[in-house]
Amino acid sequence: MANPIFRRRHLLLGTGLSLLSGPRAFAATLAATPQQTEGPFYPVTLPSDTDNDLVRVRGQAASARGTVLHLEGRVLDSGGRAMPGALIEIWQCDAQGIYDHPRQPGRERRDQAFQGYGRMQADADGRYGFRTLKPVAYPGRTPHIHFKVATPDGGQLTSQFYIAGEPQNERDFVYRAALRDPRQRERIEMRLQPAPGLEAGALATSMDIVIG
Ligand SMILES: [Fe+2]
Repeated sequence: MANPIFRRRHLLLGTGLSLLSGPRAFAATLAATPQQTEGPFYPVTLPSDTDNDLVRVRGQAASARGTVLHLEGRVLDSGGRAMPGALIEIWQCDAQGIYDHPRQPGRERRDQAFQGYGRMQADADGRYGFRTLKPVAYPGRTPHIHFKVATPDGGQLTSQFYIAGEPQNERDFVYRAALRDPRQRERIEMRLQPAPGLEAGALATSMDIVIG
């Protein structure tokens, strides 16, 4: 006959283990967004307008040249919980492949109507959204959007978004390094959809950022 005390301890131990393993098992279901290089073009000086609409610069009548992209999503922790208050920054080159940066050759030819950089805080549900441009290639790189996230608990992430199905991705060393873990593909590849309901001729994509 089984010792009832042993059985009881066994049950308690089992309960304790399931309490510990539950959240961890759930956490393991969300692949974290991979850290990637910041690259050389993070702004030295922030533009006068730093809002989340990069297609319009405050005080200018013209809109940026290029295809408008509505980029939105949530900032989550590895357990899938929203991270309200996270600060999200994005930066990218203009439709000609030119960054607003002192190390950028031909910077004087850049599209002055493109803000190039924007930032915002995630809302109470961890949501963020930018109106920006579909990224284009420049010499040596496949199209990408740089981003950085700082969470209220001190977490930091620097990474890049790419266009799903872009043929140049496979030759891009930064992109390939991020996909050493194939689960990270959905974290870095933007699936672009037409968004006529949002804006004529615009594209939209939803990208959750998971801070591991
Ligand atoms: Fe870049």
